[in-house]
Amino acid sequence: MRIYEVKDYQEMSRKAANIMFAQMIQKPDSVLGLATGSTPVGIYRQLVEWYQKGDLDFSKIRSVNLDEYKGLSADNDQSYAYFMRKNLFDHVNINPENTNIPNGLEEDAQKECGRYNSVIQELGGIDLQLLGIGNNGHIGFNEPGEVFEAETHCVALTENTIQANARFFEKIEDVPRFAYSMGIKNIMQARSILLVASGESKAEALEKTIYGPISPAVPASILQLHNQVFIVADEAALSLVKERHGL
Ligand code: PGA
Repeated sequence: MRIYEVKDYQEMSRKAANIMFAQMIQKPDSVLGLATGSTPVGIYRQLVEWYQKGDLDFSKIRSVNLDEYKGLSADNDQSYAYFMRKNLFDHVNINPENTNIPNGLEEDAQKECGRYNSVIQELGGIDLQLLGIGNNGHIGFNEPGEVFEAETHCVALTENTIQANARFFEKIEDVPRFAYSMGIKNIMQARSILLVASGESKAEALEKTIYGPISPAVPASILQLHNQVFIVADEAALSLVKERHGL
């Protein structure tokens, strides 16, 4: 794991965007694994800025997103499909046909998970997977549990995640209870992984990710087994790593 410590959220966004930039320059038809949540917003803003300046070209880029709420349509303003359009896709020259997100409206979980695994496979796998991390150590919607789920699956969200996501909904009852998420094998087969974290609320999860035992109790800890992981995190997110291990 290569760890980059940066001062704050803004620096995290810039550094992570630089890593994505390098990937896109080296391979203009890269398959990018994309993530949602608050953390990547600044990265996408930076990529849009570079695109507008003429420094980046998304015309051949393919993308696969980590996850989507089950039950929300792509037009729902809380869906991850909507998030991606608003934060990135609507502002760059990516071909919408080259973007992939699980279909939240597919009721048949087995069918949708199978379809999404095939999409990833047909793209030839993921070149660079961007990941946020939950304060419970989840990646995508791979929640802490007894086992690592290998491939795309339908997840019952934990109470912790429902609470964490409630801020985006009018009332907590509106937060979806299920989601489709890539599995750990889908993520681990990415050729490189970029994990970003900002703020003290991520400090415990990040410390366990980097130094803890590899366990499905902290899903991100599996990343210790991947040989091309970049972690870009700010001082607050790395505070416990530094306190307990130095850096
Ligand atoms: P956040 O979520 O970026 O909104 O903190 C990260 C995650 O849950 O993966």
